[in-house]
Amino acid sequence: MGKMVNMVINNKNINAEEGMTILEAAKKNNIIIPSLCHLDCVHQFGSCRICVVEVEGAKNLQASCMVTVQEGMVVRTNSERVKKARKVLYELILSDHPKDCLNCSRNQNCELQKIGELLQVNECRFEGEKSKAMLDNSSPSIERDASKCILCRRCVTVCNEIQGVGVLNAQNRGFETYIGPAADFPLNTVNCAYCGQCTTVCPVGALKEKDSTQVVWEALFDKNKRVVIQTAPAIRAALGEEFGYEPGTLVTGKMVTALKEMGFDDVFDTNFAADLTIIEEGNEFLERVKKVFSGKKAVLPMITSCSPGWIKFVEHTFPDELDHISTCKSPHMMLGALVKSYYAEKIGIDPKDIFVVSVMPCTAKKFEITRPELKNNGYPNVDAVLTTRELAKMIKEAGIDFKSLEDSKFDNPLGLSTGAADIFAATGGVMEAALRTVYEIVTGRELPFEKLHVTPIVGLEQIKTAELKIENPIEEYAFLDGVTIKVAVTSGLAGARKLMEEVARGESPYHFIEVMGCPGGCISGGGQPRPTNDEIRVKRLQAIYKEDEGKELRKSHQNPFVLKLYEEFLKKPLGHKSHELLHTHYTKRGIYNEYIE
Ligand code: FES
Repeated sequence: MGKMVNMVINNKNINAEEGMTILEAAKKNNIIIPSLCHLDCVHQFGSCRICVVEVEGAKNLQASCMVTVQEGMVVRTNSERVKKARKVLYELILSDHPKDCLNCSRNQNCELQKIGELLQVNECRFEGEKSKAMLDNSSPSIERDASKCILCRRCVTVCNEIQGVGVLNAQNRGFETYIGPAADFPLNTVNCAYCGQCTTVCPVGALKEKDSTQVVWEALFDKNKRVVIQTAPAIRAALGEEFGYEPGTLVTGKMVTALKEMGFDDVFDTNFAADLTIIEEGNEFLERVKKVFSGKKAVLPMITSCSPGWIKFVEHTFPDELDHISTCKSPHMMLGALVKSYYAEKIGIDPKDIFVVSVMPCTAKKFEITRPELKNNGYPNVDAVLTTRELAKMIKEAGIDFKSLEDSKFDNPLGLSTGAADIFAATGGVMEAALRTVYEIVTGRELPFEKLHVTPIVGLEQIKTAELKIENPIEEYAFLDGVTIKVAVTSGLAGARKLMEEVARGESPYHFIEVMGCPGGCISGGGQPRPTNDEIRVKRLQAIYKEDEGKELRKSHQNPFVLKLYEEFLKKPLGHKSHELLHTHYTKRGIYNEYIE
């Protein structure tokens, strides 16, 4: 702890750490100062002024989120002057806001609305010119409604500093200011990764996921459709938050029951396909290693491909390095392809009559399903993607009392998974799951339970690395005896950029890299419940590891239904059928989202 200062807030003597803002010091001492643009540990800009306080000796009111504490400082957070000023400031924000709360997607989940209630604002005395309304629904993932934007700039910080993408910025000046891509280009004509991190920090309805709930309801009401749903590993550790559960509460069984009550014909688990991904990706990695060590042409490091925000980012930013990316489709696309082939065959249904819905923690998945290369036999692998937030809305809309539900299990044959699949939800999880399988394939020895976690790559650090020395491998991998496999893991696109710059310079020391587009991995994807912060990330991570540790089977190659799938249908990893259904290729893109040769 740093040096402490003595100060007074609302006649109360307070000790606060030097360097803290007044807002932080007040919060630490259970004094609530309303704030709007500020976001703990993410964004500090001082644009809304809602957090103003009186500081003795200062002529003007001070923004408490920007001013640091000083020895002897005397602060009043709730004086008449402060309260009047906050109301005026709030009314000024409202004067340029559409105030269409009743039909806004953020109704009752809007920070602006909450502040209005807290400040007891019952009127809006100022009316005047309105900013130009700009609705950008060009992207399949994210919708931008500038008329609702309060210019807090949280999205600008996330897009530029946390993700390092740099698409959203303040454009123009004064009353003409708006937040968006330069020259008001629509989102689908710029290098937006569609990660949706901006939608998780937007306090109002200005940035949100593209709504897919209506198309899913229509499919459910269509008597001629068999509607299959799958849920990603991260959903079960976050969906409960939308129903009042503590972050990190696993609601797997209730979620499955809710989906069955909503009328989905089959409820499958994307985790099944995560196990399958490990088999395909692990074998792809070993193929590449074998070639490189025998002097043949192959590209290392190999980099994971399950995060579609990351894939779009790398296509735009490092288009010459796409050979490093694993050719594996992301797990939900693999599962969709299998539902419309293997499963359709099993139950005797024409794939055209199957509608596959994926519940994902991710907004970029909405774009991913539109990729022309992710179709088989003319049908898209997946027909609609719902975010965790959208699924919660649909459950509520269906009148289901989520908390009272009994637990149910996923349907088979595409519903069983191992603990290795669970940890796909967390940064470092895909790598750990892959290493569990690759180690056993290469050495022929069983990895004991107590050695399953690769501790150096667990946690929220931006870039994590680990080394694994191979000793006494089986004959097929004798060339790896004594070799140290180096791996790196990153989450968030700013970290990915750092690792890719090394790759592009030919200086990467790693054999295998895991990249997740969102900080913390899928547990805090762009479609997860709001708010997300490090405390919530850690709780969701712990829940995911608990799910893994509670399973009897914790290695993907032990999944009996995956083994059966190979026996009955795919025949072998990286075989002909696998290549047709489970693998893909990538597209070089410029910064205007144009295809480049
Ligand atoms: Fe302090 Fe907006 S919260 S200026």
